Amino acid sequence: MTDKKYIEMKEITDKDYKEFVSKHKKVIIEDTELEIGNPNKIKVLQPENFELETTTLWSFPERGKWATHYLNARYRGNWAPQVPRNLILRYSKEGDTVLDAFVGSGTTLIECKLTGRNGISVDINKDALILTRDRLHFNTLNNNFPEQKTFLGDARNLNLIEDKSIDLIATHPPYASIISYTKNSNNKERGDLSKVHSVDEFCEEMKTVAKEFFRVLKPGKFCAVLIGDTRRHKHEVPISFRTMQSFLDAGFILKENIIKAQHNTKTAPLWKNMSVKYNFLLLAHEHLFVFRKPEEGENLTKFKESMKWW
Ligand SMILES: C[S@@+](CC[C@H](N)C(=O)[O-])C[C@H]1O[C@@H](n2cnc3c(N)ncnc32)[C@H](O)[C@@H]1O
Repeated sequence: MTDKKYIEMKEITDKDYKEFVSKHKKVIIEDTELEIGNPNKIKVLQPENFELETTTLWSFPERGKWATHYLNARYRGNWAPQVPRNLILRYSKEGDTVLDAFVGSGTTLIECKLTGRNGISVDINKDALILTRDRLHFNTLNNNFPEQKTFLGDARNLNLIEDKSIDLIATHPPYASIISYTKNSNNKERGDLSKVHSVDEFCEEMKTVAKEFFRVLKPGKFCAVLIGDTRRHKHEVPISFRTMQSFLDAGFILKENIIKAQHNTKTAPLWKNMSVKYNFLLLAHEHLFVFRKPEEGENLTKFKESMKWW
């Protein structure tokens, strides 16, 4: 936990969700209206022919549409369900507890439910949590559902999560004001990191996130973070590598640096025009860093010496 004042976690239960949908039929995330409260019709519950990725280059031109994922196609900046599914299947087992502290439209929790993991999710935006609860309303073949919890809160203060209690963190923070997730500019004060324009400030806040993630993760377990870069004044701003360094400084070690191809971004036409005018390459990838928290008492001397880095 941290000394600075961040909001405390508050659970958003199914009762809260039901009260909300009794009065509202949609949530608005930034400019996008998303319908809620309808019975979710599932055509395909699980992906067909799903295969685990085996290299450090991942590309999903089609966002998966199984279960309720198809309802979130219009949510900007959500990750393809293939990403958390790969992480969950590779780095956790059934019955484990998986945390997504920037849950957005709920992609990770839907995958937790489908793969038999207990999901814990956090978001600074209550509407995102209502949307997540809505998208969790579907039946799986197994009636012994794992528990999926949703909390209003700040990834920098996971005060209701005990030390060393999480088996896997799979998460996708905003990238320093590239996509805004709330309309009100005061939301920066409330803790919305998508309102932080300064890259220095954003990376400073990610240091606090990394420390909290290190605290709650069990030793020896994995923490995966998807993050992209941006361009300012025609030059690349390496938000991803600076964020990676924040996680290394917090005590994690790097297991993988996966390049994830980006597809169908809303701002692509605008960037394309500018790239021609100013002669730069279009950014078409993000980094998916997979960190490991060392075991307690694990001897890292050889590892660190081999790199002469830390
Ligand atoms: C890139 S989106 C996550 C998208 C998600 N992976 C999905 O598939 O829908 C980032 C989310 O982080 C949330 N957020 C921003 N600042 C936060 C903070 N300090 N703590 C927790 N969540 C925050 C935003 O409200 C947004 O929902």
